Formats: sequence, C-alpha cells, structure tokens
Amino acid sequence: MNQVIQSSHVNQYNILDGGQLLKWVDTCACLSAERLAGYPCVTVSVDDLHFENEVKLGQVLNLKAQVNRAFTTSMEVGVKVSFESLTTQEIKPVCDAFITFVALDNNGKKVKLPPFLCQKPDEKTCFALANERRKVRITHANTVKQLIADYEINFKKDYFLIKNESTQLVESVELVLPPHANHHGNTFGGQVMAWMENVASISAGRLCHGLATLRSVDMVYFRGPSTVGDRIVLTSIVNNSFETSLEVGVRVEAYRYENGKIGERRHINSAFLSYDITSSGVKQLPPFLPEPKDGMRRQKEAAARRKIRLDRRYILSLQRNDRLSVAWSRTNAMYLCYGNITALSRIAGKSDWTVAASTTSVTLCTREQDGVLSFCVTLKPQTELCASDVFDVLKNPFKRVEWDPLTLSCDEVKRIGDEDGIYHTVMKSQTSEVPNDFVLLVSDRRPATDSDPYKVAFRSVTHDRVPQTTGFSRTEVACAGFVIRQDCGTCTEISYYNETNPKLVSYVTCDLAGLGNTENQNLIFCSKISTTCGIFLTLF
Ligand SMILES: CC(C)(COP(=O)(O)OP(=O)(O)OC[C@H]1O[C@@H](n2cnc3c(N)ncnc32)[C@H](O)[C@@H]1OP(=O)(O)O)[C@@H](O)C(=O)NCCC(=O)NCCS
Repeated sequence: MNQVIQSSHVNQYNILDGGQLLKWVDTCACLSAERLAGYPCVTVSVDDLHFENEVKLGQVLNLKAQVNRAFTTSMEVGVKVSFESLTTQEIKPVCDAFITFVALDNNGKKVKLPPFLCQKPDEKTCFALANERRKVRITHANTVKQLIADYEINFKKDYFLIKNESTQLVESVELVLPPHANHHGNTFGGQVMAWMENVASISAGRLCHGLATLRSVDMVYFRGPSTVGDRIVLTSIVNNSFETSLEVGVRVEAYRYENGKIGERRHINSAFLSYDITSSGVKQLPPFLPEPKDGMRRQKEAAARRKIRLDRRYILSLQRNDRLSVAWSRTNAMYLCYGNITALSRIAGKSDWTVAASTTSVTLCTREQDGVLSFCVTLKPQTELCASDVFDVLKNPFKRVEWDPLTLSCDEVKRIGDEDGIYHTVMKSQTSEVPNDFVLLVSDRRPATDSDPYKVAFRSVTHDRVPQTTGFSRTEVACAGFVIRQDCGTCTEISYYNETNPKLVSYVTCDLAGLGNTENQNLIFCSKISTTCGIFLTLF
C-alpha cells in the first residue's frame, strides 16, 4: 500500500497524524489476512508499536504486509512501514507492526484457517518467530499485572501538582457509520485506534500546552466487537509524566439503543499511548502529582510499563551491541526469553553461509556480516536418531558435562517457567589455565508444527547471585544455540550456531583455528568437533 501524505493527513506541524497511520497499518494488514483466509477478518490484537521516524507532508508512506503464520483460527500479519522522500529519494523506517486477526464467517463464527506454507528462508524465520510472539501476546496481560504488583514507586514528598489531573481527562463519543466498518458491519480495529489516538493526543496536549508526538502504543487487545450503529465512548487521561514524555491511558466502551433504551456499556479495549513533548516547545515536564487512590495506582502502573518498554527496546536493539550480557530482572524476563529465541532463529534462518570445511558427517560454515563473524557446525549422524531424544539431551545444561570435554560443571541459578532457565557453567579454557565461566539464559522450544525445528538458545545475562570471581574468567555469548531438524523419518540434523562480536573475532579465529586460511587448519577444527560429536553420539 502506498500513500502520498496530503494536508488532510497531517497535524499543524505538517507531520502525519498518528491515528491515520494506525488506520493504514490495520487496513493493510487486514488485506493480507483476508487474502489468506478468504473471509472477512477482525483485529484481535496489535503488538507494541514504536515509531522511529516522523513522516511529513508530501512524503510517500509504503506499507508492506504479509501473513507470517496461521495458527488455528488466528493469524499473525507483519507490516513493515517506511517512508520515502520524493525530493531526496531517501527511504527511512517508520515502524514494524505485528497484528493478529481472526476470520469470521457470515454468521460471525470463527473460521479454521487453511495451512500456510512459507517458501523463502526469511519467511521461515518469520514463521518460527511468530510462535514466540504469540506466547508473549497471550501471557502479556498476566505478566504486566504481576510486574506491576511487584513494582514499588517512591512518591516524593516535594512533588507538586502541575494542574489537577482531571483537566487532562477527555471523553468523546463517536458513532460507528458504514465507512468505519467492513461489509459485515464490524468496526475496523484501526478506526478504533485512530479515535483512541485522537482523545489521547488531546490529553497529552493539555498537559504540555502544545502538540505532543505519538511515540509508542503498548499491546492492544480487542476484547469484543463493535458494529455499525454502536456509540463508542472513549475516555483518556494522563497516567504519568516523565522528563520529556508522558503516558496516556484510553478506555473504549460501546453501547447502542435497544427498544428505546440505552443498552449495556461493553468494554471493548484499553490502551496505553506514549507521547514525546519535544515538538511542543516545552523542554521538560515538571514532576507529576497524581490524585489520591486511583490516580496513584495509574501513576505506579505507568511507571512499571515504562520500565518494561525501555527494557524491551534495549533488548531488541542488542544484536550489535558491544556489551553482550544483559542484566536479568523480572521486568525484562519476557523480552529476554523472546530475544534469546529470536536471535537464534534469525541466525539459523540465514541462507548466506559459506562452507569452510567438512568431514563425512560434520560441516563447518562461517558467515560474516557487519563485522560480526558467526559459525555453524552441522552434524549429520550416520546412525538413526530421534530429534526429540537429541533435544532432551541438548536442552539439559547439566548433561553437557557428559558429552562436551570442555564443560567442567553446571549449576542452576534460576528456573523461569518450563522452557527457560539461568545457569552458571564452567568450561576449560583452550588458551589459559584459568577456566572460563558463563552465566547463560537457556531457552528451549519444541516445534509447534512438523516443519519447525527444535531449538535450544543461549545468551549471556548478569545475575546478582553469580558475581564475577577471581577463580574464573567471565566469558560472554551474544547468541548461540542448537537447532535440531528431523528431515524425513529418523534422519536428524543437529546444527550448533554461534555469533561472536567484533571483540571476540580474534579469540575465536585463534581458538577455533579451523577458521584460518589453510585447508589443513580447517580439518583440525573439524576433527576436534567430530570428537565432541562422537562423544555426544555415545549417549544414544
Ligand atoms: C476475536 C474474537 C472473535 C475471539 O473470540 P473468542 O472466541 O473469545 O476467542 P478465543 O479465545 O477462542 O481466541 C480466538 C483466537 O485468538 C487468539 N487470541 C486470544 N487472545 C489473544 C491475544 N491477546 N492476542 C492474540 N491472539 C489472541 C487465540 O489464541 C485464538 O487463536 P487460535 O484459534 O489460532 O489458537 C473476539 O474476541 C472478538 O470479537 N474481538 C473483537 C474483534 C473486533 O471486532 N476487532 C475490531 C475492533 S472493534
């Protein structure tokens, strides 16, 4: 979908209106969802959105939508939004959105979706990651609730009231008309979001006495439908303000007239939108004093959500960061586990690996991009193996001492649900007498469908319980892990991936001399790996 930004789409600073953008994102995604389903689709949820760049009058907005995965009745659609300047030919990203839709038949019943087959390597990665995001989505509400319960905010005595918070309370009513809905009369999710952004921007503007810019929208879940003829009541209020940003909460309810009376009010959804005040001309917002009770609850919850947002952005932008470890905390748990599997799936989904050396059953491949050297060792056992048995061994960090000659010990630091945990692992160093120690987040995932592989991902984290000590040399891993594929029947392929960062390249190329130039060196590395693989295979 391509849209020239015209004067009816922009605010008084000639910047694209956030509500209009949300509407286009939802429409474009809906077209893609309906193409797969062959039925009208409704928006179930929109994942956290973060807007990177503003789009101005006269520029062209490009939206590319694609179904990433169909589950049973729901599907995830990814939308990549960018803009191009016609004068400078510059193209910049605006946001990546993930939207879940459900297809409904003529009677409003959910439809079982046809299987979705992906062809290209990139699509396969999106397919695998869609399952991870689905987990985050379905547990999102509970996770946030739990984190908010744990989170403490220090109310300072010298906070002063900028203005009574009720002055930022906005209530607005909209009537759902046919242009706001699909041909079955269901209101478009993007339309509801555009109305939400309208009231939220008024609340934000009242606080900063100017126009605030929409920066992000937290995950939105549409609890129930609304249809043509419904009255939509939108209520927004500022929950908390920070130095140069603020959070607005919006509640959406719907009702209609039934037999001459006002019908019951249905809660459709609630959303949290964050605004940046820099374009309003205000340099800094004064501290925010909430009203007692409910206002204090909302302020506390907004502070917790902000922490989650910041953690998430940090984790998702970590891939090329010099610091490899991320500090573990309950607030970033959800995204750390997601980021761990995402990083492994991305690297495993790349098609531009170069074979560096191989023996009968082991292949060593390397890949270099943006100064990052990655390697992959693939084992094709000559014997018949069951992928789930291999997975059971590889996902168990304690078992590693039995097959990896370098691993000396492993202790559990923290268990996080059934599929993730933090472990302290000690390994022999190949270059020094002092052993290396790692604090690793280990995430294991079984395939959701037959075409998915099994995965065990590792990344370094820091945890208070395992500080650095002099007896060990603390070593870090940005992304590593095993991918186990069962190709046909009992034919199992095991790949180990490791992405090093620029600082580690020389260590890795030395330590794993097989990455050197001569064929001979490569074979030495391969034979080392073969020995380890051999020990591993004796377990079966
Ligand atoms: C979508 C809707 C029909 C689902 O109703 P339901 O029968 O209670 O839902 P279910 O619990 O069976 O879930 C349906 C699917 O949504 C998925 N789902 C549930 N909660 C989800 C969430 N928070 N995020 C993403 N997907 C979710 C479920 O996993 C299921 O998918 P699957 O069949 O592929 O496993 C209903 O919630 C609805 O009408 N919502 C409003 C939709 C709408 O009108 N949107 C436009 C804006 S007004």
